[in-house]
Amino acid sequence: SQQPLIVPSVLPADFARLGDEVRELCEAGVDRIQWDVMDGVFVPNLTLGPDIIAACKPHSSVGFEAHLMVVEPDKLVKRYIDAGCEVIIVHAEACTHLHRTLANIRDLGARSGVAINPHTPVETVEHVLSETDLILAMTVNPGFGGQAYIPSVEPKVARLRTMIDESGFPIEIEVDGGITDATIKGASSAGADVFISGSWMYSYKDGKKAAVDTLRSNAV
Ligand code: DX5
Repeated sequence: SQQPLIVPSVLPADFARLGDEVRELCEAGVDRIQWDVMDGVFVPNLTLGPDIIAACKPHSSVGFEAHLMVVEPDKLVKRYIDAGCEVIIVHAEACTHLHRTLANIRDLGARSGVAINPHTPVETVEHVLSETDLILAMTVNPGFGGQAYIPSVEPKVARLRTMIDESGFPIEIEVDGGITDATIKGASSAGADVFISGSWMYSYKDGKKAAVDTLRSNAV
């Protein structure tokens, strides 16, 4: 697997000063920024639309990824690409035609990603490896920040690592939810290479740059 990428979730940020928050994350040395898009249907929470992301784009020196925790994501994909997201992650559980949805994301010029919830088997993505650039194994049940890491997802990450290595496709494995300086070790050992952190990074005592550096050094 590649060098670990540290990618914050913006969910814990002060939404009254998002431009400054994005700039601070870039100054802290993050590799990308993840926007948690929730529609209040797929998950019991409602967050932000593409116009907010577009407004923040000029303040960022790193790429944006959109984690679409929404039903019928096909209807929204182009909006988030036009808003400046270079990676679009849809949930396998929300897609009737996942293979087509992922191919469409790439046709629109972005990199494609598919997320699977803690209960969803890795076999769900086995037949779309040729269409995807990133697989996100959720390590919490999506909808909120600040939840506890689910360690039983680690064997799924290991299975994904084997599946991807055997496929030969350059697919990133991302984990998201409850990632801290402690839990990142197990997730990394299992084979993940992109780590999303929200509440732990925002509450770290020595600030965001130290948090990023700590996560990066703990990802074996
Ligand atoms: C949950 C989101 C996660 C969450 C991560 O639905 O997808 O990105 O914000 O936050 P922490 O790191 O606090 O679990």
